[in-house]
Amino acid sequence: MYDIPFLDIPPLRAASGTVRLPGSKSISNRVLLLAALAEGRTLVHEPLQSDDTRVMLDALCALGCTVQLAAHGALRIDGLGGRLPVQQAALFLGNAGTAMRPLAAALALLAATQGGRFELSGVPRMHERPIGDLVDALRALGCDIVDLGRPGYPPLRVEGQPGGMLHTGRPIPVRGDVSSQFLSALLLALPLVSQAQDIVIEVQGELTSKPYVAITLNLLARFGISVAHEDWRRFVVPRGSRYRSPGEIHVEGDASSASYFIALGAIAAHGGAPLRIEGVGSDSIQGDIRFVDAAQAMGAKVQAGPGWLQVSRGAWPLRALQLDCNPIPDAAMTLAVMALYADGPTRLTNIASWRVKETDRIAAMAAELRKLGASVTEGQDFIEVVPPHRWQHAAMHTYDDHRMAMCLSLASFNPLAGHTGSGGPGLPVRILDPRCVAKTFPDYFETLFGVVSAEPADVPVITVDGPTASGKGTLAAALAARLGYHTLDSGSLYRATALAALQDGIAPDDEATLARLAAMLDLRFEGTAVVLRGRPVGDDLRREDVGSLASRVAALPAVREALHGLQLAFRRPPGLVADGRDMGTVIFPDAALKVFLTASAAQRASRRHKQLISKGIQARLDDLRVDLEVRDARDKSRSVAPLRAAEDALSLDNSALSIEESVDVVLGWWQQRRPFD
Ligand code: DC
Repeated sequence: MYDIPFLDIPPLRAASGTVRLPGSKSISNRVLLLAALAEGRTLVHEPLQSDDTRVMLDALCALGCTVQLAAHGALRIDGLGGRLPVQQAALFLGNAGTAMRPLAAALALLAATQGGRFELSGVPRMHERPIGDLVDALRALGCDIVDLGRPGYPPLRVEGQPGGMLHTGRPIPVRGDVSSQFLSALLLALPLVSQAQDIVIEVQGELTSKPYVAITLNLLARFGISVAHEDWRRFVVPRGSRYRSPGEIHVEGDASSASYFIALGAIAAHGGAPLRIEGVGSDSIQGDIRFVDAAQAMGAKVQAGPGWLQVSRGAWPLRALQLDCNPIPDAAMTLAVMALYADGPTRLTNIASWRVKETDRIAAMAAELRKLGASVTEGQDFIEVVPPHRWQHAAMHTYDDHRMAMCLSLASFNPLAGHTGSGGPGLPVRILDPRCVAKTFPDYFETLFGVVSAEPADVPVITVDGPTASGKGTLAAALAARLGYHTLDSGSLYRATALAALQDGIAPDDEATLARLAAMLDLRFEGTAVVLRGRPVGDDLRREDVGSLASRVAALPAVREALHGLQLAFRRPPGLVADGRDMGTVIFPDAALKVFLTASAAQRASRRHKQLISKGIQARLDDLRVDLEVRDARDKSRSVAPLRAAEDALSLDNSALSIEESVDVVLGWWQQRRPFD
């Protein structure tokens, strides 16, 4: 997950490979609640692990439910059988509508009949998202609900005494045209109180987002409750309903999340290989799977089977679309971004529900697409997008809305826009607050970067060169963490070659054998671990004998040549911070920012000394200093790629700076070179 203030995505040009989707948010939160209310134990396979499901699980635990982590990320939930062991709780539900609405309904009914007092609150945006229609319906039933803030919005308190009676005998009216979550919440909760008689719900106004209600009915059936309906207007929760655990239940991948990758395939899978999406497919119960039809109408080529989709580019540019998006409210946002690549204006209608989601999505989408150069017309319940004539650099606001962030990332394919579709010069796109994707898809950007490709020249590189123990590695790692970029610790390649040479007993001057060894090095970087020949070698690489030999093998031209290609391969989206001796001069001469780091020999020797002592390794400061100076001299005087600052490098003497200060200086330089305000 990118927990950083912004993420710059370079211009991207193609996509292929396989992605595995995280579990559906809508299914996960319904299943977690049903499993908690049911009798018996439920094993939930592949639940979504995200902000929205975490607040639901925390709430269920606060209500006395036992949840255990089982193998492969599954959850084992012991249901409460419709009786709460806890009578009081304050629940914080973040910005999760799928937790707020059904929990409010369930707890209102439980408090009214069994007694209790529960407070439900969320983030400030949650307190701007309407819940009044649900509250009205529950009050009409006889529930006691106190508005703790603005009437009609969370936070709320629901309370009641044991033995309270509800008016379940007459039909319950509920509005359906603001959010289907009100109806879903009632449907999920009413079986708690339908022991004695059927309960009828009557929907007022046109029901929006029917497919989500269909998911609710489908999952209720899995938990033993069959709700009949007449044309989505009148629903009957049958008398004697009882939630019964199905034992095990599988959460399918999120169809709304699939939309970004379906769009990705339609836009960028043009090289012959399709983009394969695993987790949802032709057997999906989610309404947003119908996004496939819309994407096909725009030109996508799609194949589907149970649990999978394969998508590639068909028509190009994409075909402009006029569509009533009521059946696919969430995924429809993705169409607004596909519209950037269309051959005319795309108009999406019947999307009034966008205005009451994580943010006002119509206003937000219009504002951000305009920044990219598109012409956008918006109305109360529609949006029309005309593709940009000329794309513009833009820092995209994401409004704490996961879908805004994921949608807008697709603007990075701007070099493909236009009739050839194979690439002009491109612009990077800045995504502000990328962490907001954690609501439903914490690893969205990592997943995206796993299947896209860019021109190497478009992928920004920051180089950090300098002498031993100048703090290059620390600075480079900190910069990469702040920018979400990859790292290349090029010294570790020379060190790994040296370690392998020691293991194999190769003489330090046997250039040809050492070069062959370097070219065939079985070396992998797994997160922060370095794995040589199948074994983690992080500590061995820091050994003084290894460092010393590394300095000697690094002076051999054939070894440097053998490691050249390997280093270039680290240049992958979204970007790279590379540290070493010749990053700015030889390996990445076109780097966007080159830093040459220095510190006095005394300062560097003292840092290395502290490092060694902290690891329990004895060392003498004077010896270290002499050794550093010998190595510096060798690195500077060797015939190939000697240590020196590139002509266009910026020098930073960090002798008197903390790591944070050095990072801030370099980030300041970096911001000045980026095209964003
Ligand atoms: O940065 P370091 O101490 O891990 O580097 C180990 C050795 O590798 C060092 O003696 C210099 C050499 N090296 C190099 O020649 N070129 C690089 N790009 C990185 C390191």
